[in-house]
Amino acid sequence: MSPARPHVVITRRLPAPVEEQVAREFDARLNADDHPFAAAELQDALRGADALLCTVTDRLTAETLAVEPLRARILANFGVGFNHIDVAAAKTRGLVVTNTPDVLTDDTADDAVMLMLMVARRAGEGERHVRAGRWTGWRPTHLLGTRVSGKTLGLIGFGRIAKAVARRAHHGFGMRVMFHDPYPPPAAVARELGAEQQGSVEEVIREADFVSLHCPATPETRHLINAERLALMKPTAFLINTARGDVVDEAALVAALRAGTIAGAALDVYEREPQITPELLTMENVVLLPHLGSATRETRAAMGFRALENLKAFFSGQPPRDRVV
Ligand code: DGY
Repeated sequence: MSPARPHVVITRRLPAPVEEQVAREFDARLNADDHPFAAAELQDALRGADALLCTVTDRLTAETLAVEPLRARILANFGVGFNHIDVAAAKTRGLVVTNTPDVLTDDTADDAVMLMLMVARRAGEGERHVRAGRWTGWRPTHLLGTRVSGKTLGLIGFGRIAKAVARRAHHGFGMRVMFHDPYPPPAAVARELGAEQQGSVEEVIREADFVSLHCPATPETRHLINAERLALMKPTAFLINTARGDVVDEAALVAALRAGTIAGAALDVYEREPQITPELLTMENVVLLPHLGSATRETRAAMGFRALENLKAFFSGQPPRDRVV
Protein backbone atom coordinates (compact mmCIF):
# COMPACT_ATOMS: atom_id res chain seq x y z
CA MET A 1 0.00 0.00 0.00
CA SER A 2 1.39 3.41 -0.93
CA PRO A 3 1.74 5.88 1.97
CA ALA A 4 -1.08 8.41 2.41
CA ARG A 5 -0.51 11.54 0.39
CA PRO A 6 -0.19 14.79 2.37
CA HIS A 7 -3.46 16.63 2.74
CA VAL A 8 -3.35 20.14 1.27
CA VAL A 9 -6.08 22.75 1.65
CA ILE A 10 -6.09 25.24 -1.23
CA THR A 11 -7.79 28.33 0.11
CA ARG A 12 -8.89 29.94 -3.20
CA ARG A 13 -9.68 28.78 -6.72
CA LEU A 14 -6.48 28.50 -8.76
CA PRO A 15 -6.06 28.22 -12.54
CA ALA A 16 -7.46 24.83 -13.58
CA PRO A 17 -4.13 23.25 -14.68
CA VAL A 18 -2.69 24.07 -11.25
CA GLU A 19 -5.64 22.65 -9.34
CA GLU A 20 -5.50 19.51 -11.49
CA GLN A 21 -1.79 19.06 -10.87
CA VAL A 22 -2.08 19.65 -7.11
CA ALA A 23 -4.90 17.10 -6.99
CA ARG A 24 -2.70 14.56 -8.81
CA GLU A 25 0.21 15.05 -6.40
CA PHE A 26 -1.62 15.54 -3.10
CA ASP A 27 -4.80 14.77 -1.27
CA ALA A 28 -6.14 18.20 -2.13
CA ARG A 29 -9.20 20.03 -0.83
CA LEU A 30 -10.34 22.77 -3.19
CA ASN A 31 -12.46 25.82 -2.43
CA ALA A 32 -15.19 25.17 -5.00
CA ASP A 33 -17.08 28.45 -4.52
CA ASP A 34 -13.92 30.54 -4.05
CA HIS A 35 -15.11 32.23 -0.85
CA PRO A 36 -12.48 33.96 1.31
CA PHE A 37 -11.71 31.90 4.39
CA ALA A 38 -12.64 33.37 7.75
CA ALA A 39 -10.36 32.79 10.75
CA ALA A 40 -12.36 29.75 11.90
CA GLU A 41 -12.05 28.08 8.52
CA LEU A 42 -8.31 28.76 8.41
CA GLN A 43 -8.04 27.19 11.86
CA ASP A 44 -9.95 24.11 10.68
CA ALA A 45 -7.48 23.80 7.82
CA LEU A 46 -4.51 24.23 10.16
CA ARG A 47 -5.94 21.50 12.42
CA GLY A 48 -6.92 19.12 9.66
CA ALA A 49 -4.38 19.45 6.83
CA ASP A 50 -0.64 18.97 6.44
CA ALA A 51 -0.31 22.10 4.33
CA LEU A 52 -2.17 25.23 3.31
CA LEU A 53 -1.73 26.66 -0.16
CA CYS A 54 -2.86 30.14 0.84
CA THR A 55 -3.15 33.63 -0.61
CA VAL A 56 -3.14 37.29 0.33
CA THR A 57 -6.79 37.08 1.40
CA ASP A 58 -5.98 34.66 4.23
CA ARG A 59 -5.15 36.58 7.40
CA LEU A 60 -2.86 34.17 9.16
CA THR A 61 -2.43 36.12 12.39
CA ALA A 62 -0.67 34.94 15.55
CA GLU A 63 -4.10 34.28 17.04
CA THR A 64 -5.20 32.13 14.12
CA LEU A 65 -1.88 30.28 14.10
CA ALA A 66 -2.20 29.57 17.83
CA VAL A 67 -4.72 26.81 16.99
CA GLU A 68 -4.50 23.46 18.82
CA PRO A 69 -3.76 20.84 17.82
CA LEU A 70 -1.74 22.13 14.87
CA ARG A 71 -1.33 19.55 12.12
CA ALA A 72 -0.13 21.79 9.28
CA ARG A 73 3.62 22.02 8.75
CA ILE A 74 3.86 24.40 5.82
CA LEU A 75 2.11 27.50 4.49
CA ALA A 76 2.84 27.64 0.76
CA ASN A 77 1.76 31.14 -0.14
CA PHE A 78 0.50 31.86 -3.65
CA GLY A 79 2.07 35.31 -4.05
CA VAL A 80 5.35 37.05 -3.40
CA GLY A 81 4.12 39.31 -0.58
CA PHE A 82 3.48 37.56 2.72
CA ASN A 83 2.57 40.37 5.11
CA HIS A 84 -0.79 38.64 5.69
CA ILE A 85 1.11 35.89 7.50
CA ASP A 86 2.55 36.55 10.93
CA VAL A 87 5.87 34.94 10.10
CA ALA A 88 7.23 35.25 13.63
CA ALA A 89 4.21 33.33 14.95
CA ALA A 90 4.54 30.81 12.11
CA LYS A 91 8.17 30.25 13.04
CA THR A 92 7.30 29.81 16.70
CA ARG A 93 4.76 27.18 15.69
CA GLY A 94 7.37 25.39 13.58
CA LEU A 95 5.61 26.21 10.31
CA VAL A 96 7.63 26.64 7.14
CA VAL A 97 6.47 29.54 4.96
CA THR A 98 7.19 29.84 1.24
CA ASN A 99 6.25 32.42 -1.41
CA THR A 100 6.34 32.71 -5.22
CA PRO A 101 8.91 35.31 -6.30
CA ASP A 102 10.31 35.90 -9.82
CA VAL A 103 7.39 34.58 -11.84
CA LEU A 104 5.27 37.70 -11.33
CA THR A 105 7.97 40.33 -11.74
CA ASP A 106 7.28 41.34 -15.33
CA ASP A 107 3.50 41.43 -15.08
CA THR A 108 3.59 43.48 -11.89
CA ALA A 109 6.06 45.89 -13.49
CA ASP A 110 3.72 46.17 -16.48
CA ASP A 111 0.90 46.94 -14.06
CA ALA A 112 2.89 49.79 -12.47
CA VAL A 113 3.72 51.25 -15.90
CA MET A 114 0.09 50.88 -16.97
CA LEU A 115 -1.07 52.77 -13.87
CA MET A 116 1.49 55.50 -14.48
CA LEU A 117 0.26 55.96 -18.04
CA MET A 118 -3.39 55.72 -17.04
CA VAL A 119 -3.20 58.39 -14.37
CA ALA A 120 -0.95 60.70 -16.40
CA ARG A 121 -3.00 60.42 -19.59
CA ARG A 122 -6.36 60.37 -17.79
CA ALA A 123 -7.27 57.01 -19.31
CA GLY A 124 -9.85 56.10 -16.66
CA GLU A 125 -11.59 59.44 -17.03
CA GLY A 126 -11.54 59.08 -20.82
CA GLU A 127 -13.11 55.62 -20.61
CA ARG A 128 -15.84 56.82 -18.29
CA HIS A 129 -16.46 59.80 -20.57
CA VAL A 130 -16.91 57.67 -23.70
CA ARG A 131 -19.01 55.00 -21.99
CA ALA A 132 -21.30 57.65 -20.50
CA GLY A 133 -22.04 58.91 -24.02
CA ARG A 134 -20.63 62.32 -23.17
CA TRP A 135 -17.99 62.47 -25.94
CA THR A 136 -18.86 65.11 -28.51
CA GLY A 137 -15.76 64.65 -30.66
CA TRP A 138 -12.07 65.59 -30.91
CA ARG A 139 -10.97 69.03 -29.84
CA PRO A 140 -7.55 70.50 -29.05
CA THR A 141 -8.24 71.16 -25.38
CA HIS A 142 -10.07 67.98 -24.47
CA LEU A 143 -8.89 65.81 -21.53
CA LEU A 144 -5.30 67.01 -21.62
CA GLY A 145 -2.99 64.92 -19.53
CA THR A 146 0.65 64.91 -18.51
CA ARG A 147 3.52 63.61 -20.65
CA VAL A 148 5.28 60.55 -19.26
CA SER A 149 8.23 60.23 -21.67
CA GLY A 150 11.35 61.96 -20.42
CA LYS A 151 9.97 62.65 -16.94
CA THR A 152 11.51 61.57 -13.63
CA LEU A 153 10.40 58.34 -11.98
CA GLY A 154 11.17 57.78 -8.31
CA LEU A 155 11.16 54.21 -7.06
CA ILE A 156 10.77 53.49 -3.36
CA GLY A 157 12.41 50.09 -2.96
CA PHE A 158 14.60 48.58 -5.65
CA GLY A 159 13.90 44.87 -5.66
CA ARG A 160 13.01 42.69 -8.62
CA ILE A 161 9.79 44.48 -9.57
CA ALA A 162 11.22 47.98 -9.18
CA LYS A 163 14.17 47.01 -11.38
CA ALA A 164 11.80 45.74 -14.06
CA VAL A 165 9.89 49.04 -13.84
CA ALA A 166 13.17 50.97 -14.11
CA ARG A 167 14.12 49.03 -17.25
CA ARG A 168 10.79 49.81 -18.89
CA ALA A 169 10.79 53.46 -17.83
CA HIS A 170 14.38 54.24 -18.74
CA HIS A 171 14.85 52.17 -21.86
CA GLY A 172 11.25 52.43 -23.06
CA PHE A 173 10.15 55.92 -22.09
CA GLY A 174 13.51 57.68 -21.78
CA MET A 175 12.73 58.55 -18.18
CA ARG A 176 15.22 59.65 -15.60
CA VAL A 177 14.96 56.98 -12.89
CA MET A 178 15.99 57.39 -9.26
CA PHE A 179 15.49 55.07 -6.33
CA HIS A 180 15.97 54.61 -2.65
CA ASP A 181 16.46 51.21 -1.06
CA PRO A 182 18.10 50.51 2.29
CA TYR A 183 19.76 47.51 0.60
CA PRO A 184 20.87 48.95 -2.76
CA PRO A 185 22.22 46.72 -5.52
CA PRO A 186 25.80 46.96 -6.83
CA ALA A 187 26.35 50.24 -8.71
CA ALA A 188 26.74 48.39 -12.03
CA VAL A 189 23.22 46.93 -11.74
CA ALA A 190 21.68 50.36 -11.18
CA ARG A 191 23.78 51.82 -14.00
CA GLU A 192 22.59 49.22 -16.50
CA LEU A 193 19.00 50.18 -15.66
CA GLY A 194 19.76 53.88 -15.88
CA ALA A 195 18.78 54.28 -12.22
CA GLU A 196 20.36 56.73 -9.78
CA GLN A 197 20.58 55.81 -6.13
CA GLN A 198 19.42 58.40 -3.59
CA GLY A 199 20.23 58.45 0.10
CA SER A 200 16.68 58.78 1.39
CA VAL A 201 13.01 58.39 0.53
CA GLU A 202 12.68 62.17 0.83
CA GLU A 203 15.31 62.85 -1.83
CA VAL A 204 13.42 60.63 -4.26
CA ILE A 205 9.96 61.99 -3.64
CA ARG A 206 11.03 65.65 -3.77
CA GLU A 207 12.31 65.28 -7.32
CA ALA A 208 10.08 62.68 -8.91
CA ASP A 209 7.22 63.37 -11.32
CA PHE A 210 5.98 59.84 -10.57
CA VAL A 211 6.63 58.08 -7.26
CA SER A 212 6.16 54.32 -7.54
CA LEU A 213 6.15 52.12 -4.43
CA HIS A 214 7.99 48.80 -4.45
CA CYS A 215 8.86 48.06 -0.84
CA PRO A 216 7.47 45.16 1.17
CA ALA A 217 4.83 45.82 3.83
CA THR A 218 6.60 45.58 7.18
CA PRO A 219 6.15 47.40 10.48
CA GLU A 220 8.90 49.79 9.28
CA THR A 221 7.19 50.63 5.97
CA ARG A 222 3.66 51.00 7.37
CA HIS A 223 2.42 54.47 6.36
CA LEU A 224 5.80 55.27 4.85
CA ILE A 225 3.86 57.59 2.56
CA ASN A 226 2.24 59.84 5.14
CA ALA A 227 1.10 63.46 5.22
CA GLU A 228 4.64 64.76 5.72
CA ARG A 229 6.08 62.87 2.76
CA LEU A 230 3.09 63.63 0.52
CA ALA A 231 3.73 67.32 1.28
CA LEU A 232 7.26 66.91 -0.10
CA MET A 233 6.00 65.71 -3.49
CA LYS A 234 5.63 68.16 -6.35
CA PRO A 235 2.06 69.41 -6.81
CA THR A 236 2.32 68.07 -10.37
CA ALA A 237 3.47 64.60 -9.27
CA PHE A 238 1.58 61.31 -9.16
CA LEU A 239 1.75 58.44 -6.66
CA ILE A 240 1.65 54.85 -7.97
CA ASN A 241 1.13 51.90 -5.62
CA THR A 242 1.41 48.29 -6.75
CA ALA A 243 3.15 47.16 -3.54
CA ARG A 244 0.87 46.95 -0.50
CA GLY A 245 -1.86 49.23 0.78
CA ASP A 246 -0.34 49.55 4.25
CA VAL A 247 2.60 51.50 2.84
CA VAL A 248 0.30 54.48 2.22
CA ASP A 249 -1.71 56.33 4.85
CA GLU A 250 -4.91 56.37 2.78
CA ALA A 251 -6.54 59.13 4.86
CA ALA A 252 -3.47 61.34 4.34
CA LEU A 253 -3.56 60.52 0.62
CA VAL A 254 -7.18 61.59 0.36
CA ALA A 255 -6.35 64.85 2.15
CA ALA A 256 -3.38 65.49 -0.16
CA LEU A 257 -5.48 64.82 -3.27
CA ARG A 258 -8.23 67.06 -1.99
CA ALA A 259 -5.81 69.89 -1.21
CA GLY A 260 -3.99 69.56 -4.53
CA THR A 261 -0.74 68.70 -2.72
CA ILE A 262 -0.19 66.10 -5.45
CA ALA A 263 -1.72 65.79 -8.91
CA GLY A 264 -3.13 62.28 -8.70
CA ALA A 265 -2.72 58.68 -7.64
CA ALA A 266 -2.99 55.29 -9.27
CA LEU A 267 -3.58 52.40 -6.89
CA ASP A 268 -3.70 48.65 -7.29
CA VAL A 269 -3.62 47.89 -3.57
CA TYR A 270 -5.41 49.34 -0.53
CA GLU A 271 -5.11 49.61 3.22
CA ARG A 272 -8.28 47.63 3.92
CA GLU A 273 -8.83 45.45 0.84
CA PRO A 274 -11.34 44.97 -0.59
CA GLN A 275 -12.68 48.14 1.04
CA ILE A 276 -11.71 51.38 -0.61
CA THR A 277 -11.69 54.69 1.25
CA PRO A 278 -14.96 56.12 -0.14
CA GLU A 279 -13.55 59.56 -1.10
CA LEU A 280 -11.13 57.89 -3.52
CA LEU A 281 -14.08 56.55 -5.50
CA THR A 282 -15.26 60.07 -6.18
CA MET A 283 -11.95 61.52 -7.42
CA GLU A 284 -11.39 61.75 -11.16
CA ASN A 285 -7.61 62.10 -10.78
CA VAL A 286 -7.35 58.70 -9.12
CA VAL A 287 -7.05 55.36 -10.92
CA LEU A 288 -8.27 52.36 -8.94
CA LEU A 289 -7.59 48.77 -9.94
CA PRO A 290 -8.56 45.64 -7.97
CA HIS A 291 -5.10 44.24 -7.04
CA LEU A 292 -4.29 43.09 -10.58
CA GLY A 293 -0.47 43.21 -10.48
CA SER A 294 0.11 39.54 -11.24
CA ALA A 295 -3.27 38.91 -12.88
CA THR A 296 -2.40 37.34 -16.21
CA ARG A 297 -3.25 33.76 -17.10
CA GLU A 298 0.44 33.04 -17.63
CA THR A 299 1.61 34.42 -14.31
CA ARG A 300 -1.19 33.07 -12.15
CA ALA A 301 -0.47 29.58 -13.52
CA ALA A 302 3.25 30.06 -12.93
CA MET A 303 2.58 31.20 -9.35
CA GLY A 304 0.50 28.10 -8.73
CA PHE A 305 3.13 25.76 -10.13
CA ARG A 306 5.77 27.53 -8.08
CA ALA A 307 3.74 27.04 -4.88
CA LEU A 308 3.27 23.39 -5.87
CA GLU A 309 7.00 23.01 -6.42
CA ASN A 310 7.59 24.34 -2.90
CA LEU A 311 5.10 21.85 -1.45
CA LYS A 312 6.61 18.94 -3.35
CA ALA A 313 10.12 19.83 -2.20
CA PHE A 314 8.99 20.14 1.40
CA PHE A 315 7.14 16.83 1.49
CA SER A 316 10.00 15.00 -0.21
CA GLY A 317 12.39 16.22 2.48
CA GLN A 318 14.17 18.81 0.29
CA PRO A 319 14.54 22.49 1.20
CA PRO A 320 11.78 24.40 -0.61
CA ARG A 321 13.25 26.86 -3.09
CA ASP A 322 11.29 29.87 -1.83
CA ARG A 323 11.40 29.41 1.91
CA VAL A 324 10.95 32.73 3.73
CA VAL A 325 10.69 31.23 7.25
C1 DGY B 1 1.66 39.13 -4.48
O1 DGY B 1 2.15 38.20 -5.12
O2 DGY B 1 2.20 39.60 -3.49
C2 DGY B 1 0.35 39.65 -4.95
O3 DGY B 1 0.16 40.94 -4.50
C3 DGY B 1 -0.77 38.75 -4.49
O4 DGY B 1 -0.57 38.42 -3.17
